[in-house]
Amino acid sequence: MQKELKIKIARPFLPLIGEKKRIKFFYGGRGGGKSYAFADALLMLGLKQKLLIACVREIQESIKDSVHRLLADRIGFYGLDEFDVKESEILNRVNGTRFIFKGLRNQDAQKIKSLEGVDIVWIEEAQTISKKSWEILSPTIRKDGSEIWISMNREEENDPLWVELGANPDERTFVQKVNFYDNPFCPNELKKQALDCKQKSISDYLHIWEGEPLSQGAHKLIDSQKVRLAMKPKIKESTSPLVIGLDVARFGDDSTVFCFRRGRLCLKFEVYRGKDNVEVANLATNMIEKYHPSKMFVDIGGVGGGVYDILKDRGFIEVVRGVNFGSKAINDERYANRRAEMWDKISQWLDDEVELPKDEGLFDELACVNKRYDFRGRLILEEKEEIKRRLGRSTDMADALALTFAEPVYDRGMIKLYGNGKVSIEEMFESAKHKYGGW
Ligand SMILES: Nc1ncnc2c1ncn2[C@@H]1O[C@H](COP(=O)(O)OP(=O)(O)OP(=O)(O)O)[C@@H](O)[C@H]1O
Ligand SMILES: [Mg+2]
Repeated sequence: MQKELKIKIARPFLPLIGEKKRIKFFYGGRGGGKSYAFADALLMLGLKQKLLIACVREIQESIKDSVHRLLADRIGFYGLDEFDVKESEILNRVNGTRFIFKGLRNQDAQKIKSLEGVDIVWIEEAQTISKKSWEILSPTIRKDGSEIWISMNREEENDPLWVELGANPDERTFVQKVNFYDNPFCPNELKKQALDCKQKSISDYLHIWEGEPLSQGAHKLIDSQKVRLAMKPKIKESTSPLVIGLDVARFGDDSTVFCFRRGRLCLKFEVYRGKDNVEVANLATNMIEKYHPSKMFVDIGGVGGGVYDILKDRGFIEVVRGVNFGSKAINDERYANRRAEMWDKISQWLDDEVELPKDEGLFDELACVNKRYDFRGRLILEEKEEIKRRLGRSTDMADALALTFAEPVYDRGMIKLYGNGKVSIEEMFESAKHKYGGW
């Protein structure tokens, strides 16, 4: 009891040791005292009763990345000698409380089973937690009365855990913002750094020290408000030429997506999983025969090259065009590659009165991509891998939409000629049917 009393929790953090809540969510800027208070509160509770406590973060390559060190320091500071600080865990020898440390990236429900008996999980640096990690973690913390503690310095408007938990808290969620000026222990040196920063750049100050997300638009390619607007129904139909974008899954967990667009109206997406090249080519063939698109742009960067070859071999060369996201842009002066160029076309298209199918997944994909400029001042998009890490999946639907902007498609009516100019498109489709017996 003596020892617990020695530990002093700063006022804004008292709810950590107060009434039980499913979620206790603290966010704010640098120096708010989050890490110290969480560590102290956990030690305090772990002295009182036997608890299994998991300290998790998105990436933990070694125990050094974790709060293990901070907990050890606080144990040393308070002289809590019942705690045995081991290399990868911390144990209370007297009552059996145990701290374990885990990275969430690349975990699946199976690997994370060891967390099922956890009483309190502390998600540190929660702004980096991907949606996927959260979806695996949250159902695993299932013990009655278990709590999820979150400490976050907000990064962006749509940090997944912010959107999921912080932005609209329910009655089981406690949310509190804490900044350095709320932290009674904040060293003067940190306060000085904060004020210096405020003098130099107010936007940096707000982000770093006041915990504001990076301002919208500063880094995002596409304004999320415009995407929301586009998802409101407004266009009945369009007579513009039909363009189909086909993004072929690159990896097992990606989706193959067809996007159908006529001018300002994006009609629909068709999403498939686990299809091989021949199956995708058959789907594409069916669509060409059924809808007679003016163009179908196929991503040939990865395995899509195989699909393109099959379609070409089947005689669809007039309709189907291969596009490589990584290749040189048409406007090489302004864009670092085709991908940036096509995505920027989406952004420009959204300036117009346009319509997209209402789909939250598509919304996230379009609104999440960061832009920058290369050393030649050309637009370049954030790496696909980086986006995948944040979003928990690839931007397959948005890529299919981007493909519909690969080249301008003009309305020339039905394509009249094919190949050597002697075969009409009807004949072409007919002959394809005979040749392959239909599909
Ligand atoms: N209970 C405490 N006792 C002594 N010093 C404290 C305590 N809590 C916080 N501090 C001081 O305040 C500083 C900032 O606290 P902390 O690192 O916990 O903030 P944070 O909100 O996690 O911010 P950051 O974004 O920098 O991680 C610490 O470096 C420490 O000097
Ligand atoms: Mg911290």
